[in-house]
Amino acid sequence: MSTTLFNLQLDHVAQLQRAYATILADQGVDSLAIYSGHAREHFADDQAPPFQTYGHFMHWVGLADVQHSWLVIQPEKRPQLYLYAPTDFWHLPTQLPDEPWVAEFDVHLCSDKLGSDKITPPLSANAAIIGDIEPLTTSNQPTSKAAFQPERLLRALDELRLFKTPYEIACIREANRLAIAGHQAAQAAFIGAASELDIQLAYLTASRQRESHVPYQNIIGLNEHAGVLHYQHYALNAPKHRYSLLVDAGRRFRGYCADITRTYAGPDAPAVFGELVNAMHELKDELLKGVAPGVNFVTLHEQMHYQLGEILVAHALYKGTAEQAVEDGVTTAFCPHGLGHSLGLQVHDVAGLRHSDGTPAPAPEQHPALRLTRTLRPGMVVTVEPGLYFINMLLAPLRDTSVAINWPLVDQLMPCGGIRIEDNVAVTESGYKKLTP
Ligand code: GLY
Ligand code: MN
Ligand code: MN
Repeated sequence: MSTTLFNLQLDHVAQLQRAYATILADQGVDSLAIYSGHAREHFADDQAPPFQTYGHFMHWVGLADVQHSWLVIQPEKRPQLYLYAPTDFWHLPTQLPDEPWVAEFDVHLCSDKLGSDKITPPLSANAAIIGDIEPLTTSNQPTSKAAFQPERLLRALDELRLFKTPYEIACIREANRLAIAGHQAAQAAFIGAASELDIQLAYLTASRQRESHVPYQNIIGLNEHAGVLHYQHYALNAPKHRYSLLVDAGRRFRGYCADITRTYAGPDAPAVFGELVNAMHELKDELLKGVAPGVNFVTLHEQMHYQLGEILVAHALYKGTAEQAVEDGVTTAFCPHGLGHSLGLQVHDVAGLRHSDGTPAPAPEQHPALRLTRTLRPGMVVTVEPGLYFINMLLAPLRDTSVAINWPLVDQLMPCGGIRIEDNVAVTESGYKKLTP
Protein backbone atom coordinates (compact mmCIF):
# COMPACT_ATOMS: atom_id res chain seq x y z
CA MET A 1 0.00 0.00 0.00
CA SER A 2 1.30 3.47 -0.77
CA THR A 3 2.14 5.49 2.33
CA THR A 4 -0.24 8.15 1.05
CA LEU A 5 -3.20 5.80 1.01
CA PHE A 6 -2.00 4.35 4.33
CA ASN A 7 -2.03 7.75 6.02
CA LEU A 8 -5.18 8.90 4.29
CA GLN A 9 -6.99 5.81 5.60
CA LEU A 10 -5.89 6.51 9.17
CA ASP A 11 -7.12 10.09 8.82
CA HIS A 12 -10.41 8.79 7.38
CA VAL A 13 -11.00 6.51 10.39
CA ALA A 14 -10.09 9.32 12.82
CA GLN A 15 -12.49 11.65 11.02
CA LEU A 16 -15.26 9.05 11.18
CA GLN A 17 -14.66 8.66 14.92
CA ARG A 18 -15.09 12.40 15.45
CA ALA A 19 -18.12 12.70 13.17
CA TYR A 20 -19.88 9.69 14.73
CA ALA A 21 -19.21 11.04 18.26
CA THR A 22 -20.95 14.29 17.32
CA ILE A 23 -23.85 12.56 15.57
CA LEU A 24 -24.45 10.04 18.37
CA ALA A 25 -24.33 12.76 21.04
CA ASP A 26 -26.74 14.85 18.99
CA GLN A 27 -29.15 11.90 18.78
CA GLY A 28 -28.86 11.10 22.50
CA VAL A 29 -27.40 7.66 21.82
CA ASP A 30 -24.25 6.31 23.49
CA SER A 31 -23.47 3.45 21.14
CA LEU A 32 -24.42 2.31 17.68
CA ALA A 33 -24.47 -1.26 16.35
CA ILE A 34 -24.26 -1.55 12.57
CA TYR A 35 -25.16 -4.86 10.96
CA SER A 36 -23.27 -5.87 7.81
CA GLY A 37 -26.26 -7.63 6.28
CA HIS A 38 -26.17 -11.07 4.70
CA ALA A 39 -27.22 -12.65 1.42
CA ARG A 40 -30.74 -14.08 1.31
CA GLU A 41 -31.12 -17.36 -0.49
CA HIS A 42 -33.46 -17.74 -3.46
CA PHE A 43 -36.86 -19.05 -2.50
CA ALA A 44 -36.78 -22.79 -1.79
CA ASP A 45 -33.10 -22.97 -2.72
CA ASP A 46 -29.71 -22.93 -1.00
CA GLN A 47 -28.11 -20.46 -3.44
CA ALA A 48 -27.95 -16.70 -2.94
CA PRO A 49 -27.46 -13.76 -5.36
CA PRO A 50 -24.31 -11.63 -5.14
CA PHE A 51 -24.20 -9.67 -1.91
CA GLN A 52 -23.09 -6.16 -0.97
CA THR A 53 -22.32 -5.10 2.60
CA TYR A 54 -24.44 -2.32 4.13
CA GLY A 55 -23.02 1.08 3.20
CA HIS A 56 -22.67 2.44 6.75
CA PHE A 57 -20.70 -0.70 7.68
CA MET A 58 -18.47 -0.38 4.61
CA HIS A 59 -17.82 3.26 5.48
CA TRP A 60 -15.56 2.03 8.31
CA VAL A 61 -13.92 -1.07 6.85
CA GLY A 62 -14.23 -0.76 3.05
CA LEU A 63 -15.08 -4.45 2.65
CA ALA A 64 -17.96 -4.98 0.24
CA ASP A 65 -18.52 -8.68 0.96
CA VAL A 66 -18.62 -9.01 4.76
CA GLN A 67 -21.74 -10.81 6.00
CA HIS A 68 -23.25 -11.82 9.36
CA SER A 69 -21.01 -9.33 11.18
CA TRP A 70 -21.44 -6.34 13.46
CA LEU A 71 -19.66 -3.12 14.13
CA VAL A 72 -20.19 -1.27 17.40
CA ILE A 73 -19.24 2.39 17.55
CA GLN A 74 -18.95 4.27 20.84
CA PRO A 75 -17.52 7.76 21.19
CA GLU A 76 -14.00 7.82 22.70
CA LYS A 77 -13.69 4.02 22.37
CA ARG A 78 -12.06 1.81 19.79
CA PRO A 79 -14.52 0.48 17.21
CA GLN A 80 -15.50 -3.13 17.96
CA LEU A 81 -15.72 -5.41 14.95
CA TYR A 82 -17.53 -8.72 15.47
CA LEU A 83 -16.48 -10.50 12.32
CA TYR A 84 -18.17 -13.71 11.28
CA ALA A 85 -15.33 -16.15 10.70
CA PRO A 86 -16.58 -19.70 11.19
CA THR A 87 -14.37 -22.73 11.43
CA ASP A 88 -15.44 -24.11 8.11
CA PHE A 89 -13.89 -26.61 5.72
CA TRP A 90 -16.36 -25.65 2.98
CA HIS A 91 -15.16 -22.08 2.64
CA LEU A 92 -11.97 -20.09 3.05
CA PRO A 93 -12.17 -18.31 6.42
CA THR A 94 -12.54 -14.53 6.36
CA GLN A 95 -9.19 -12.79 6.12
CA LEU A 96 -8.61 -9.24 7.23
CA PRO A 97 -6.87 -6.98 4.72
CA ASP A 98 -3.38 -5.64 5.26
CA GLU A 99 -4.66 -2.11 5.87
CA PRO A 100 -4.07 0.26 8.78
CA TRP A 101 -7.70 0.40 9.96
CA VAL A 102 -7.37 -3.14 11.33
CA ALA A 103 -4.97 -1.99 14.08
CA GLU A 104 -7.40 0.75 15.11
CA PHE A 105 -10.23 -1.73 15.80
CA ASP A 106 -10.79 -4.47 18.36
CA VAL A 107 -11.57 -7.43 16.15
CA HIS A 108 -13.56 -10.35 17.59
CA LEU A 109 -13.70 -13.37 15.31
CA CYS A 110 -17.07 -15.06 15.77
CA SER A 111 -17.95 -18.55 14.72
CA ASP A 112 -21.70 -18.03 15.24
CA LYS A 113 -23.75 -16.18 12.71
CA LEU A 114 -24.32 -12.93 14.53
CA GLY A 115 -26.47 -11.89 11.64
CA SER A 116 -29.56 -13.76 12.68
CA ASP A 117 -32.37 -11.67 14.08
CA LYS A 118 -31.72 -13.17 17.51
CA ILE A 119 -28.15 -12.36 18.41
CA THR A 120 -26.45 -9.01 18.51
CA PRO A 121 -23.14 -8.02 20.07
CA PRO A 122 -23.13 -6.68 23.63
CA LEU A 123 -24.59 -3.18 23.68
CA SER A 124 -24.79 -0.35 26.18
CA ALA A 125 -28.13 0.60 27.70
CA ASN A 126 -28.74 3.56 25.44
CA ALA A 127 -27.89 2.03 22.10
CA ALA A 128 -29.20 2.21 18.57
CA ILE A 129 -29.15 -0.52 15.92
CA ILE A 130 -29.11 -0.02 12.18
CA GLY A 131 -29.04 -2.51 9.34
CA ASP A 132 -31.01 -5.16 7.55
CA ILE A 133 -32.44 -7.03 10.57
CA GLU A 134 -35.85 -7.46 12.13
CA PRO A 135 -36.51 -5.45 15.31
CA LEU A 136 -35.41 -7.40 18.37
CA THR A 137 -38.44 -8.01 20.46
CA THR A 138 -37.46 -10.79 22.88
CA SER A 139 -37.64 -9.19 26.31
CA ASN A 140 -34.68 -11.08 27.80
CA GLN A 141 -32.31 -9.60 25.24
CA PRO A 142 -30.44 -6.56 26.49
CA THR A 143 -30.70 -5.09 23.02
CA SER A 144 -34.48 -5.15 22.97
CA LYS A 145 -34.56 -1.62 24.40
CA ALA A 146 -32.24 -0.27 21.74
CA ALA A 147 -33.59 2.23 19.25
CA PHE A 148 -34.07 0.41 15.96
CA GLN A 149 -33.30 2.21 12.69
CA PRO A 150 -33.80 5.71 14.16
CA GLU A 151 -34.72 7.82 11.17
CA ARG A 152 -32.99 11.04 12.19
CA LEU A 153 -29.75 9.20 12.99
CA LEU A 154 -29.84 7.40 9.65
CA ARG A 155 -30.34 10.67 7.78
CA ALA A 156 -27.37 12.20 9.65
CA LEU A 157 -25.14 9.23 8.71
CA ASP A 158 -26.28 9.48 5.08
CA GLU A 159 -25.42 13.18 5.10
CA LEU A 160 -21.95 12.32 6.44
CA ARG A 161 -21.41 9.91 3.54
CA LEU A 162 -22.30 12.55 0.98
CA PHE A 163 -19.03 14.34 1.82
CA LYS A 164 -16.01 12.22 1.02
CA THR A 165 -12.74 12.32 2.94
CA PRO A 166 -9.51 12.61 0.92
CA TYR A 167 -9.09 8.84 1.44
CA GLU A 168 -12.47 8.11 -0.12
CA ILE A 169 -11.73 10.36 -3.08
CA ALA A 170 -8.39 8.56 -3.57
CA CYS A 171 -10.26 5.22 -3.56
CA ILE A 172 -12.78 6.41 -6.17
CA ARG A 173 -9.89 7.67 -8.29
CA GLU A 174 -8.21 4.26 -8.07
CA ALA A 175 -11.51 2.52 -8.93
CA ASN A 176 -11.65 4.77 -12.01
CA ARG A 177 -8.10 3.91 -13.01
CA LEU A 178 -8.90 0.19 -12.87
CA ALA A 179 -12.20 0.64 -14.73
CA ILE A 180 -10.56 2.58 -17.56
CA ALA A 181 -8.36 -0.43 -18.32
CA GLY A 182 -11.61 -2.34 -18.81
CA HIS A 183 -13.05 0.35 -21.05
CA GLN A 184 -9.96 0.30 -23.26
CA ALA A 185 -10.26 -3.46 -23.62
CA ALA A 186 -13.97 -3.15 -24.40
CA GLN A 187 -13.22 -0.64 -27.15
CA ALA A 188 -10.55 -2.94 -28.61
CA ALA A 189 -12.99 -5.87 -28.53
CA PHE A 190 -15.58 -3.75 -30.37
CA ILE A 191 -13.02 -2.89 -33.05
CA GLY A 192 -12.43 -6.64 -33.32
CA ALA A 193 -16.18 -7.17 -33.99
CA ALA A 194 -16.79 -8.98 -30.69
CA SER A 195 -20.23 -9.83 -29.31
CA GLU A 196 -21.70 -8.12 -26.24
CA LEU A 197 -20.76 -11.11 -24.09
CA ASP A 198 -17.19 -11.10 -25.37
CA ILE A 199 -16.92 -7.34 -24.78
CA GLN A 200 -18.17 -7.87 -21.22
CA LEU A 201 -15.61 -10.64 -20.65
CA ALA A 202 -12.82 -8.47 -22.09
CA TYR A 203 -13.90 -5.67 -19.75
CA LEU A 204 -13.89 -7.93 -16.68
CA THR A 205 -10.50 -9.42 -17.54
CA ALA A 206 -8.81 -6.08 -18.12
CA SER A 207 -10.36 -4.42 -15.08
CA ARG A 208 -9.41 -7.46 -12.97
CA GLN A 209 -12.75 -8.39 -11.41
CA ARG A 210 -15.28 -11.18 -11.37
CA GLU A 211 -18.83 -10.39 -12.39
CA SER A 212 -20.24 -10.80 -8.88
CA HIS A 213 -17.94 -7.99 -7.68
CA VAL A 214 -19.00 -5.25 -10.11
CA PRO A 215 -20.67 -2.28 -8.35
CA TYR A 216 -23.62 -2.49 -10.77
CA GLN A 217 -24.47 -4.72 -13.71
CA ASN A 218 -22.35 -3.53 -16.63
CA ILE A 219 -24.34 -2.17 -19.54
CA ILE A 220 -22.80 -3.38 -22.79
CA GLY A 221 -25.09 -2.39 -25.65
CA LEU A 222 -24.37 -2.83 -29.33
CA ASN A 223 -26.45 -0.94 -31.91
CA GLU A 224 -30.04 -0.30 -30.82
CA HIS A 225 -29.26 -1.80 -27.39
CA ALA A 226 -27.25 1.38 -26.73
CA GLY A 227 -30.62 3.10 -26.53
CA VAL A 228 -31.95 0.81 -23.78
CA LEU A 229 -30.98 2.82 -20.73
CA HIS A 230 -30.41 -0.11 -18.36
CA TYR A 231 -29.88 -2.83 -20.99
CA GLN A 232 -29.41 -6.02 -19.01
CA HIS A 233 -28.33 -8.77 -21.46
CA TYR A 234 -25.11 -9.80 -23.16
CA ALA A 235 -25.89 -11.19 -26.60
CA LEU A 236 -23.74 -14.22 -27.40
CA ASN A 237 -23.28 -13.47 -31.08
CA ALA A 238 -21.93 -10.37 -32.80
CA PRO A 239 -24.47 -8.56 -34.99
CA LYS A 240 -23.99 -8.36 -38.72
CA HIS A 241 -23.69 -4.58 -38.69
CA ARG A 242 -21.73 -2.53 -36.21
CA TYR A 243 -23.28 0.89 -35.74
CA SER A 244 -22.38 1.64 -32.13
CA LEU A 245 -21.26 0.40 -28.73
CA LEU A 246 -22.25 1.87 -25.37
CA VAL A 247 -20.35 0.61 -22.32
CA ASP A 248 -21.49 1.76 -18.87
CA ALA A 249 -19.24 -0.20 -16.54
CA GLY A 250 -17.51 0.27 -13.21
CA ARG A 251 -15.17 -1.19 -10.65
CA ARG A 252 -14.88 -1.16 -6.88
CA PHE A 253 -11.76 -0.28 -4.96
CA ARG A 254 -12.03 -0.89 -1.20
CA GLY A 255 -15.77 -0.61 -1.48
CA TYR A 256 -15.76 2.62 -3.50
CA CYS A 257 -17.32 2.67 -6.95
CA ALA A 258 -16.37 3.95 -10.37
CA ASP A 259 -19.26 4.56 -12.78
CA ILE A 260 -18.00 5.34 -16.28
CA THR A 261 -19.72 5.34 -19.67
CA ARG A 262 -18.19 5.52 -23.13
CA THR A 263 -19.87 5.29 -26.53
CA TYR A 264 -18.16 4.45 -29.82
CA ALA A 265 -19.29 4.81 -33.41
CA GLY A 266 -18.89 1.62 -35.43
CA PRO A 267 -17.89 1.22 -39.10
CA ASP A 268 -21.53 0.95 -40.23
CA ALA A 269 -22.76 4.12 -38.51
CA PRO A 270 -23.66 7.22 -40.52
CA ALA A 271 -20.98 9.91 -40.20
CA VAL A 272 -23.32 12.12 -38.21
CA PHE A 273 -23.37 9.57 -35.39
CA GLY A 274 -19.60 9.88 -34.93
CA GLU A 275 -20.00 13.66 -34.96
CA LEU A 276 -22.68 13.42 -32.29
CA VAL A 277 -20.42 11.21 -30.15
CA ASN A 278 -17.72 13.90 -30.36
CA ALA A 279 -20.27 16.61 -29.52
CA MET A 280 -21.40 14.66 -26.45
CA HIS A 281 -17.78 14.34 -25.27
CA GLU A 282 -17.48 18.11 -25.60
CA LEU A 283 -20.77 18.61 -23.77
CA LYS A 284 -19.55 16.40 -20.91
CA ASP A 285 -16.33 18.44 -20.68
CA GLU A 286 -18.30 21.72 -20.70
CA LEU A 287 -20.57 20.45 -17.93
CA LEU A 288 -17.57 19.31 -15.87
CA LYS A 289 -16.31 22.89 -15.96
CA GLY A 290 -19.58 23.93 -14.34
CA VAL A 291 -18.93 21.74 -11.29
CA ALA A 292 -18.01 24.03 -8.38
CA PRO A 293 -19.06 24.69 -4.81
CA GLY A 294 -22.28 26.70 -4.61
CA VAL A 295 -23.62 25.40 -7.94
CA ASN A 296 -27.00 23.75 -7.74
CA PHE A 297 -27.01 20.39 -9.53
CA VAL A 298 -30.54 21.00 -10.87
CA THR A 299 -29.23 24.15 -12.60
CA LEU A 300 -26.39 22.12 -14.13
CA HIS A 301 -28.91 19.52 -15.28
CA GLU A 302 -30.94 22.32 -16.93
CA GLN A 303 -27.75 23.55 -18.59
CA MET A 304 -27.30 20.05 -20.03
CA HIS A 305 -30.76 20.27 -21.59
CA TYR A 306 -30.07 23.67 -23.08
CA GLN A 307 -26.74 22.56 -24.57
CA LEU A 308 -28.30 19.34 -25.79
CA GLY A 309 -30.78 21.57 -27.61
CA GLU A 310 -27.84 23.35 -29.23
CA ILE A 311 -26.40 20.02 -30.36
CA LEU A 312 -29.74 18.96 -31.85
CA VAL A 313 -29.91 22.24 -33.76
CA ALA A 314 -26.25 22.16 -34.86
CA HIS A 315 -26.59 18.62 -36.24
CA ALA A 316 -29.91 19.34 -37.98
CA LEU A 317 -31.90 16.99 -35.78
CA TYR A 318 -34.16 19.86 -34.76
CA LYS A 319 -35.13 23.01 -36.62
CA GLY A 320 -35.56 25.83 -34.14
CA THR A 321 -33.71 27.27 -31.17
CA ALA A 322 -32.20 25.44 -28.20
CA GLU A 323 -34.70 27.23 -25.92
CA GLN A 324 -37.59 25.95 -28.03
CA ALA A 325 -36.19 22.42 -27.99
CA VAL A 326 -36.17 22.51 -24.20
CA GLU A 327 -39.60 24.14 -23.97
CA ASP A 328 -41.22 21.68 -26.39
CA GLY A 329 -39.90 18.70 -24.43
CA VAL A 330 -37.67 17.69 -27.34
CA THR A 331 -34.50 17.45 -25.24
CA THR A 332 -36.37 15.31 -22.68
CA ALA A 333 -37.47 12.93 -25.45
CA PHE A 334 -33.82 12.61 -26.52
CA CYS A 335 -32.49 12.37 -22.93
CA PRO A 336 -34.92 11.14 -20.28
CA HIS A 337 -32.43 10.60 -17.43
CA GLY A 338 -30.71 12.94 -15.00
CA LEU A 339 -27.34 14.61 -15.46
CA GLY A 340 -25.82 12.49 -12.70
CA HIS A 341 -25.85 11.42 -9.08
CA SER A 342 -23.76 11.18 -5.97
CA LEU A 343 -21.16 8.40 -6.10
CA GLY A 344 -19.44 6.56 -3.26
CA LEU A 345 -19.91 3.22 -1.54
CA GLN A 346 -23.08 2.84 -3.60
CA VAL A 347 -23.21 3.67 -7.25
CA HIS A 348 -26.26 5.84 -6.65
CA ASP A 349 -25.06 7.09 -3.31
CA VAL A 350 -27.19 8.26 -0.41
CA ALA A 351 -28.59 11.72 0.43
CA GLY A 352 -28.82 13.01 -3.14
CA LEU A 353 -32.51 13.82 -2.76
CA ARG A 354 -32.34 15.29 0.76
CA HIS A 355 -31.62 18.69 2.20
CA SER A 356 -28.70 18.87 4.62
CA ASP A 357 -31.13 18.54 7.55
CA GLY A 358 -32.39 15.23 6.16
CA THR A 359 -35.75 16.49 4.88
CA PRO A 360 -36.73 15.40 1.35
CA ALA A 361 -35.49 17.39 -1.65
CA PRO A 362 -37.28 15.54 -4.45
CA ALA A 363 -36.51 15.83 -8.14
CA PRO A 364 -38.38 18.63 -9.91
CA GLU A 365 -41.59 17.60 -11.65
CA GLN A 366 -40.13 18.22 -15.14
CA HIS A 367 -37.06 16.07 -14.35
CA PRO A 368 -38.37 13.14 -12.30
CA ALA A 369 -35.36 10.89 -13.03
CA LEU A 370 -32.81 13.30 -11.53
CA ARG A 371 -31.11 11.64 -8.53
CA LEU A 372 -29.31 14.66 -7.13
CA THR A 373 -30.92 17.99 -6.27
CA ARG A 374 -28.23 19.33 -3.92
CA THR A 375 -26.12 22.43 -4.10
CA LEU A 376 -22.59 21.18 -4.68
CA ARG A 377 -20.11 21.48 -1.79
CA PRO A 378 -16.44 20.50 -1.46
CA GLY A 379 -16.05 16.78 -0.79
CA MET A 380 -19.03 15.66 -2.84
CA VAL A 381 -18.28 13.19 -5.63
CA VAL A 382 -20.75 13.10 -8.49
CA THR A 383 -21.14 11.68 -11.98
CA VAL A 384 -21.65 13.87 -15.02
CA GLU A 385 -23.35 11.79 -17.72
CA PRO A 386 -25.14 13.61 -20.51
CA GLY A 387 -26.99 11.37 -22.94
CA LEU A 388 -28.63 11.52 -26.36
CA TYR A 389 -30.75 8.56 -27.43
CA PHE A 390 -33.02 7.48 -30.25
CA ILE A 391 -35.77 5.74 -28.29
CA ASN A 392 -38.89 5.17 -30.33
CA MET A 393 -41.13 4.96 -27.26
CA LEU A 394 -40.19 8.53 -26.28
CA LEU A 395 -39.98 10.06 -29.75
CA ALA A 396 -43.15 8.51 -31.22
CA PRO A 397 -45.56 10.86 -29.39
CA LEU A 398 -43.80 13.82 -31.08
CA ARG A 399 -44.14 12.40 -34.60
CA ASP A 400 -47.69 13.56 -35.20
CA THR A 401 -47.08 17.05 -33.86
CA SER A 402 -45.75 20.23 -35.42
CA VAL A 403 -42.48 19.89 -33.45
CA ALA A 404 -39.74 20.37 -36.03
CA ILE A 405 -37.71 17.20 -35.62
CA ASN A 406 -35.78 15.90 -38.63
CA TRP A 407 -37.48 12.50 -38.76
CA PRO A 408 -35.53 11.05 -41.73
CA LEU A 409 -32.31 11.72 -39.82
CA VAL A 410 -33.75 10.28 -36.59
CA ASP A 411 -34.74 7.15 -38.51
CA GLN A 412 -31.25 6.89 -39.95
CA LEU A 413 -29.80 7.07 -36.41
CA MET A 414 -32.25 4.64 -34.76
CA PRO A 415 -30.00 1.58 -35.30
CA CYS A 416 -27.23 3.40 -33.35
CA GLY A 417 -29.38 3.39 -30.19
CA GLY A 418 -27.82 6.30 -28.38
CA ILE A 419 -24.88 7.97 -26.72
CA ARG A 420 -23.88 8.46 -23.09
CA ILE A 421 -20.56 9.81 -21.87
CA GLU A 422 -19.99 9.60 -18.11
CA ASP A 423 -17.14 10.77 -15.90
CA ASN A 424 -16.70 10.94 -12.13
CA VAL A 425 -15.71 14.19 -10.48
CA ALA A 426 -14.94 15.49 -7.00
CA VAL A 427 -16.05 18.96 -5.92
CA THR A 428 -13.11 20.94 -4.48
CA GLU A 429 -12.86 24.27 -2.63
CA SER A 430 -12.30 26.11 -5.92
CA GLY A 431 -13.96 23.93 -8.55
CA TYR A 432 -13.60 20.28 -9.47
CA LYS A 433 -11.13 17.47 -9.87
CA LYS A 434 -11.81 14.89 -12.57
CA LEU A 435 -11.36 11.37 -11.19
CA THR A 436 -11.76 9.60 -14.53
CA PRO A 437 -8.43 9.44 -16.35
N1 GLY B 1 -24.49 3.03 -14.23
C1 GLY B 1 -25.67 3.60 -13.76
C2 GLY B 1 -25.64 5.06 -13.87
O1 GLY B 1 -24.89 5.59 -14.67
O2 GLY B 1 -26.28 5.75 -13.13
MN1 MN C 1 -23.14 4.68 -15.38
MN1 MN D 1 -24.07 7.06 -13.30
